[in-house]
Amino acid sequence: MLSGSVWKLILLQKKMSPIKTELPKGQVMVTHVSLDPNTEDWKSHLSCLSIDEQKKVLQFHYEGDKLRFAKCRSVLRKIIGMWLNKPYSSLMFKFGKHGKPHLDHHTDIHFNISHTQGHAVLAFARDHEIGIDIENTQRDTDIDNVAQKVFTKKEQELLFQMDGENRKNLFFRLWTAKESFLKATGRGLTLNPQEIEAILPKYPTSNGTFLCNNLKGSELFFSIELTCQKPYTATLCAPSYLLSSPPLITNKI
Ligand SMILES: CC(C)(COP(=O)(O)OP(=O)(O)OC[C@H]1O[C@@H](n2cnc3c(N)ncnc32)[C@H](O)[C@@H]1OP(=O)(O)O)[C@@H](O)C(=O)NCCC(=O)NCCS
Repeated sequence: MLSGSVWKLILLQKKMSPIKTELPKGQVMVTHVSLDPNTEDWKSHLSCLSIDEQKKVLQFHYEGDKLRFAKCRSVLRKIIGMWLNKPYSSLMFKFGKHGKPHLDHHTDIHFNISHTQGHAVLAFARDHEIGIDIENTQRDTDIDNVAQKVFTKKEQELLFQMDGENRKNLFFRLWTAKESFLKATGRGLTLNPQEIEAILPKYPTSNGTFLCNNLKGSELFFSIELTCQKPYTATLCAPSYLLSSPPLITNKI
């Protein structure tokens, strides 16, 4: 189990910036949230949430799920509330046709959340939908079997050229890229992952692209891998104009 101080480093940046008083234009902001139900009580976040969110927290069976949902929503509310200069408890969220949450009334602020055991990442951008996905590569996964079900033929060819750790790393790079695209479009699994091809960049600091013939506007989306501490892999998906500067990685509020 990682200690609290190590968790802060999950998104490796030379220097983490403090959260800006306004969401920058033309850049994505990503915040890391550590989630440890052994050291933090989910109840401390309840007062920041709406009644519906509080009800949802109580419906989760496991403490870890209660903390994940309550803390992510509380951090989300605090950050957006600060930008809009509004009480965080007054913010209202709505859901897209396939469940993607968005802010009611303030359509220029977009966000997306992803979590894996112990960690969450929250991505924010102005004026355009974005998607983010983080995975723990140590997760117990039958890589070959899953790849045959969700990867395209080309992705599978690339994957099966690799062995051992390299195969696993590539699997999660492709997985998080595809998932970030599914989340940016808001379509989730209503889009067949085998109809989306993630074309990874030659260098992880460059942008990847996507091929998805069945979705108008899909060519707008690009991906960038976030530099994570092992064993995590995270990918952000956004239009190219939001990726011309590297994502701003911030401390949690
Ligand atoms: C729901 C889904 C969008 C992501 O789920 P996930 O991978 O289990 O979870 P993540 O932690 O990355 O994301 C969950 C968050 O995404 C957001 N979300 C929910 N529905 C969404 C949608 N349709 N689009 C974008 N974001 C969505 C929510 O904020 C949610 O967190 P919350 O419920 O705490 O608010 C969906 O894509 C899914 O079920 N994926 C399953 C994985 C899979 O098979 N992927 C194939 C990849 S090749």
